[in-house]
Formats: sequence, C-alpha cells, structure tokens
Amino acid sequence: MSTYVISGGKKLEGVVSVSGSKNASLPILAACVLNNGITKLYNVPNIHDTKVMLDILKYLGCRIKKNRDKIVIDARKIEKYEIPEELMRKMRSSVILAGALIGRFKKATFSCPGGCDIGARPIDLHLKVFENLGINIVKDTGYIQCKCDTIEASKITLDFPSVGATENAILASVFAVGTTTIINAAMEPEIVDLQNFLNKIGAKINGAGTNEITIKGVTNLKDSGYKVMPDRIEAGTLLCAGAITGGNITLKNVIPEHITPVIQKLEECGCSLKIKGDQIMLRSPKKLKAIDIKTMPYPGFPTDMQAIFASILTIAKGTSVIIENIFENRYKYASELGRMGAKFTIEGRTAIIKGVRKLNGANVQATDLRGGAALVLAGLASKGKTRVENIEYILRGYENLDTKLNSIGAKITKEV
Ligand code: UD1
Repeated sequence: MSTYVISGGKKLEGVVSVSGSKNASLPILAACVLNNGITKLYNVPNIHDTKVMLDILKYLGCRIKKNRDKIVIDARKIEKYEIPEELMRKMRSSVILAGALIGRFKKATFSCPGGCDIGARPIDLHLKVFENLGINIVKDTGYIQCKCDTIEASKITLDFPSVGATENAILASVFAVGTTTIINAAMEPEIVDLQNFLNKIGAKINGAGTNEITIKGVTNLKDSGYKVMPDRIEAGTLLCAGAITGGNITLKNVIPEHITPVIQKLEECGCSLKIKGDQIMLRSPKKLKAIDIKTMPYPGFPTDMQAIFASILTIAKGTSVIIENIFENRYKYASELGRMGAKFTIEGRTAIIKGVRKLNGANVQATDLRGGAALVLAGLASKGKTRVENIEYILRGYENLDTKLNSIGAKITKEV
C-alpha cells in the first residue's frame, strides 16, 4: 500500500489541466467490444480503473496498442464471453462489459462486481434491463449467465435513473432488431459521451442527456476514432483544492456546463469563478462559508463530489448539512477527517459539519476513491504533515493527482 505525504499550508496558484473522464472512458472502452473491427480512443486517463478495463478486454481476446494519448483496440478476435471473477472484483464498472458482450455475441457470464465500498451497490436494475431485452438469465454459484437467440428491441422503464444500468441498456441494444426506448434514463454527461462515441462508430442513438433515450438497432458498426470528454469530477476536485487552500487557480480543458452545481456551491461558499471557453478561473475568499448540499442524479449535485465538499466545509465558517441521496454508505472518510480535527456528526444519510478554524496534519487512511481525495485536500489545508495511506483507492480514478497539485504549489511526495 502506498502513501501520500503532504506538507500542508501552501496556497495553490497557477494553471492546471483536467484529464479525460474516468466514468466516460470505462463504458466507452467496454463499447469497443461491440465493433468487430478497430477503434481508436484518445484522452483515456492513465489510471488503475482504465488499466483493469484494458486487462479485461485483453483477456477477452482484444488486441490493444497504447501510445501516448492513443489507445487502439482491435476487437475482431474476441473468443471469450466470461469475465473472470478476480478482474470483476477489482472494479464495479466491469459490469458494463456484460451489456457490450451481450450486444455483440448474445451471451456473457460474470460474477457480482466489486469496486469501492460505498453502499450495497446491487445490480438488479442491470439484470432487469437484460430481461426486458429478452435475455435469459441464469444465476449459478456466484456467476450470472446471460444468453439469448435474438435481442428484442423493447421499452425499458428504469425504477431509478442508474448510470450503469442506462449504459448497459444502450450497449445491449445497439444491434437489437427494432427500436429500444429507455424511460427514466440517467442524464449524466458520460451517457451523452457514450452515445456520441457509439454514433461515431455507426450506432443510431438519440436522446442521451434527457430522461428518454432511443436506440435504433443497426446491423454493423464501423472503425473510427473518438476523444473522451474531460473528467468533471476531477475538475471539481481541483477547484476545491484551490478553494480549501485559499488559492487562485485556473482550470484548463473543462466543460463548465458539466459542473454547474459545483460552481454554484463554490460561489455559495464565497469563491468567485469566471468561465472563459473551456477554462475556469477560481479566486478563493479569505474564509469559506458553510453551505448545505443534497446529492442527486444529474443535473443535481453529484454524489462523487460529496466527500470533496465535506472536506472544504470542515474549515468553513458556520455549520453545513449534507444529505447523501445516492449511496447509503458514503461517509466512511468522515472519521479520518475527524483525526485531523474536523467536527462531523453523521446520522444515516445526513452529515452535519461544524466548521473549525484549522485542521491539523495526521496519519489517515483513504477509505474509497473520492473519500481518499477528500483527505488529500484536507492535508493541503492542514497545519503540519499529513500522511494519507492506502492511496491505491485514489489512484483508481485520479491521473497524477500529486504531480498536478504540486505543479500549482502543493507539496506532496509519494511513498511506495
Ligand atoms: C456511476 C459512477 C459513480 C457515481 C454513480 C452515481 C461510473 C463508473 N461510476 O456508478 O462514480 O457515483 O454513477 O452518479 O460511471 N442501484 C441499484 N441497483 C442497480 C444499480 C444501481 O439499486 O442495479 C443503486 C446503487 O446502489 C446506488 C444508485 O442506484 O444507490 C446509483 O447507482 P448508479 O447510478 O447505477 O451508479 P453506478 O453506475 O454504479
């Protein structure tokens, strides 16, 4: 397990660029399985989760070439339809490979997925989607087998706008006979990126970004290239890193509309933000103000930014209230922040944070991806040294977080 050692108290100043989106890259990488040909992807972040996804693609039989910013995926010779348990356990999003395999080969076998421990995270909605498309599901000793002769285009109504289930519905129905409609679909920008990618390689999908998506089945896809969108959660994290240190930073390569609620909440905290094209300039106030937050599906406030904001609110003036509506177990980081002097009261889905004057450096442990990033931010603002252990969680989803923060004035070293 590796550790970040952070010397706190440095104001962040300067320009930093946002990497490609993790949550857009993962379904797009899975979607490459659908193309019986060669697909080129650009701007895929070099992080643990994308490496796991590429490992699974290789295991299935894809040939993969990587050079600098480009990944070339040749999916012509796939000969396996089973995702091995050890790879599945490494990452929850491996479940979206099921939709892609079913879409192309009408069969897939997988175990229940792993990922960050932030709640029960069942896959019932994914399985319902497959059943709706006429896919036969057999559960057998921890494995789930999906099979069908034809994929029947259908009307799918999701009980909840699950991001992963929406992606699986799209992937599984690209070649369905007829038109599939997804009602109550997730509206996240990553779904739009998946649609744009699939349409670029020949699919016929409409409506992503709204709660109703239609997929007109096609018979084949074509070779093409696609650049993945910037990571909106990394963008929000970097802005919050600026804010918690009282810094002034400029973000490059960001799509500001994707982070509207994050910008609004930072403004409520007293920050001033200016948008110019794909750049955002943030100026921090002398003292941040307490605010209230409720996480919601897009376009509401993202659950993935919940821990990050909690971190900055630990030193805001006043008392903040956070309500986590998406995952039921997403406050594990709070007791670690408590070791640094933060004042949290957690009750079910609610966190009450009483702002303190300052945090003190401490030895803390990352408990999940975003919770880990929250600890790094707290370390940046703390007096003295902070050691964030188990940074493997952070490396799952942030590309070079330490070097990026160091380039704008932080002092972080990595101990392996
Ligand atoms: C995706 C994101 C994750 C983000 C989440 C919500 C990726 C790789 N991950 O995760 O970073 O936090 O969206 O924005 O894109 N649920 C069920 N049954 C299911 C599926 C989901 O009950 O079959 C529940 C989940 O337990 C959770 C809620 O629905 O409480 C939202 O989950 P979902 O939108 O599916 O999130 P993910 O796709 O897993």
